[in-house]
Amino acid sequence: MCGIVGYVGRRDCSDVLVESLRKLEYRGYDSAGIAVIENGEIVTKKSKGRLDNLQAKLDEEGKPNGHVGIGHTRWATHGEPSDINSHPHSGKRVTIVHNGIIENYKELKEFLMKEGYSFLSETDTEVAAKLFDFYYNGDPIGSIARALKDLRGSYAFGIMFREFPDRIYAVRKESPLVVGVGEGENFIASDVTPMIQYTRNYYLLETNEIAEIKEDSVKIFDVHKNPIEKELQFADWDVNAAEKGGYEHFMLKEVHEQPEVVKATLSPRIKDGMPDFAGDGVDVEKLSSYRKIFIVACGTAMHAGMVGKYVIEKMARVPVIVDIASEFRYRDPLITDEDLLIVVSQSGETADTLAALRLAREAGADTIGIVNVVGSSIAREVDSVIYTHAGPEISVASTKAYMVQVAVIYLFALEVAYRAGKISEEECKKYTADLLGMSDVIEETFALKDECAYTASRLLNAESLLYIGRGLDYALSMEGSLKLKEISYIHSESYAAGELKHGTISLISDGMPVIAVATQSNLAEKTISNIKEVKARGAMVILIAGADIEVPEDAYDELIRLPKTEELFYPMAAAVPMQLIAYYTSVLKGNDVDKPRNLAKSVTVE
Ligand code: F6R
Repeated sequence: MCGIVGYVGRRDCSDVLVESLRKLEYRGYDSAGIAVIENGEIVTKKSKGRLDNLQAKLDEEGKPNGHVGIGHTRWATHGEPSDINSHPHSGKRVTIVHNGIIENYKELKEFLMKEGYSFLSETDTEVAAKLFDFYYNGDPIGSIARALKDLRGSYAFGIMFREFPDRIYAVRKESPLVVGVGEGENFIASDVTPMIQYTRNYYLLETNEIAEIKEDSVKIFDVHKNPIEKELQFADWDVNAAEKGGYEHFMLKEVHEQPEVVKATLSPRIKDGMPDFAGDGVDVEKLSSYRKIFIVACGTAMHAGMVGKYVIEKMARVPVIVDIASEFRYRDPLITDEDLLIVVSQSGETADTLAALRLAREAGADTIGIVNVVGSSIAREVDSVIYTHAGPEISVASTKAYMVQVAVIYLFALEVAYRAGKISEEECKKYTADLLGMSDVIEETFALKDECAYTASRLLNAESLLYIGRGLDYALSMEGSLKLKEISYIHSESYAAGELKHGTISLISDGMPVIAVATQSNLAEKTISNIKEVKARGAMVILIAGADIEVPEDAYDELIRLPKTEELFYPMAAAVPMQLIAYYTSVLKGNDVDKPRNLAKSVTVE
């Protein structure tokens, strides 16, 4: 996830671009850069780190003077944050900014190298820039359309051609992009936030529609160069709400980004319908040979690991030990060079997780990181890193980062199971397709919003509550419980449903809320008997159930039915109502949802 902007008009372009990028900094802050046409030449300025670094560079070296330009704020996906990897990227006659992921950039790079191109950066975007240059034949739209045929993945591009200094071009697929229409000036941006102060009129581009933007005109074409008539949209958002995409809080926005980021994370790792981690540097041949797999992480990331334990053990029949990083690092764990350690971390900087990784490396274990922040400490120290593509997560309570961690772990489980001969190619392909389809299922769960808000209203006065489930549902309950307690400040615990009667059930008193999850058909009946046990003692039960699970009416006070999906992947669907229940409870209590008390987003101390 990155932010892109572009401007053609009479104002000072450098100033407009930097100001616009400031409004998009929430989309990424690994680096920033602009390219402006000055006296017929494209002048590029870029800098690693936050936008202030770019501003300082412009103050020191002088800003490019011109009226046509593009800009970028980066959330790194390929290549660590650095000046060289920052956008814009150029070919000889073309300069571009890009938000998205070019999945086949390695093949394209090899092809372009054979054609005599050399590369400065490690990015997929430079490959796209050089591809546009390769096909450039004096006709911007024709050459963009030709290059798009070769590109696989997601993109929103802002493109400038040296020979056409009066204009910019824009095109998108899967990544967002709007074209703002002003008076004597026009804009592009990843969302309407940056342009709202200049104009509220904009066009939405559909896949592979190519916009040609000049000072006094915006024309849109299809890939065959036929002009397209589009309806002008009007943005009525207030400026403050805009960077949250119109949502009241970042958490809610991030919940709604989950379908998109699941797709962005999984698609580059699926080839010919099968999981493929070769591009992440994972030694896939070795995957079925480990004696044990350790998954070590903290908090929500550790809960993603719990889902991993159930899935990897069930599918690949390899023992998986999940550990809290702060425990693992001090308990002299039995890890050897025959084992694999997977560390899971959104930030890639969590001190305990990093220490656990170092300890496992000393013991000779192979290590894989599932990490969201490119170039972070954990990403640099693991043998191979599988980057999740959640984009920046601003809300302290993790939602989309958890979802993509779980998605990657599922795909990884399928890869190990297939390599170990535990599932056939046909089965693997079916599961892989179903997993990718979870993006749509997650979208469907948003329809449960009102039920979740209602549930939240019933939790408000609770002093304490329980989350219960069995198997995968128990793994998910842990995350549901953490989400609720960290932002609503209501005490809650998660319990394996079958464990209640060994002590915890004595806590149940009249009206105490119990959130139960039943999505796995082989366990549902047992969970439902546990639910009846708590109900008989006065609990108020909210049951989150799979589409086909039979539930008697006396087993719940409120039933939240999930959309139908492959049973194995239900934790991904059930996570959404859990997140929404926590969210609405926090809102109703008047808490600071995005910044809960006593917590920080990145825990770099032990
Ligand atoms: C809770 C949450 C935390 C993090 C934990 C690990 O919503 O976000 O529990 O999961 O602090 O952080 P990372 O993933 O950055 O290592």
